[in-house]
Amino acid sequence: MTAPVLVSYATRSGSTGEVAEAVGATLQSEGLAPEVLPMHAVESLTGRSFLILGAPLYIGRLPKEFHQFMALHGEGLRRLRPWLFILGPTRTVPADFEAARRQAARQLERYDWLQPAEVHVLGGRFDVRRMPKPFNLLTRLPLPALDKMPVTDIRDWVEIRAWARSVALQIKSAA
Ligand SMILES: Cc1cc2nc3c(=O)[nH]c(=O)nc-3n(C[C@H](O)[C@H](O)[C@H](O)COP(=O)(O)O)c2cc1C
Repeated sequence: MTAPVLVSYATRSGSTGEVAEAVGATLQSEGLAPEVLPMHAVESLTGRSFLILGAPLYIGRLPKEFHQFMALHGEGLRRLRPWLFILGPTRTVPADFEAARRQAARQLERYDWLQPAEVHVLGGRFDVRRMPKPFNLLTRLPLPALDKMPVTDIRDWVEIRAWARSVALQIKSAA
């Protein structure tokens, strides 16, 4: 049976996927039975009543998979008011969060028909050894400074779970 609550995500180096799993686990602990799926595995939004979407920013853009999801599921998305979580900043610097919010808003401008319940920017993870294509090509260059870049992971699991709980409450009061 199709789960009425779907958490769907795009991820390029895994960190957004892990946040999606944590959001799903929190919804479950709040008594919901969500399905957590990568965007490319979602065939249809038929039967879904609540949708939470997650995606990361890369050089100011959301991934191709996110835009493909918008193109493929426009009809279902018009019916639902999805909650969006966007991963981006990898430093706990307010200006980075502001920039990420602007980048996300600009990316979403093209979907003027989309009415998200919320767009929530969350801290992400930077690990030079996990950079996706084509950025990983940089690591093949003799750039010693790149090797020394520290791994930063500012995903705040307490904040993520609190946000997911607030979404669960909204779902339960609307269901
Ligand atoms: C090459 C590169 C470019 C990035 N560009 C941005 C950006 O423009 N804005 C931003 O807020 N975060 C940016 N980030 C941070 C990513 O959004 C962050 O690493 C996120 O956790 C990656 O998600 P993923 O692991 O699900 O792919 C960038 C990261 C990399 C490696």
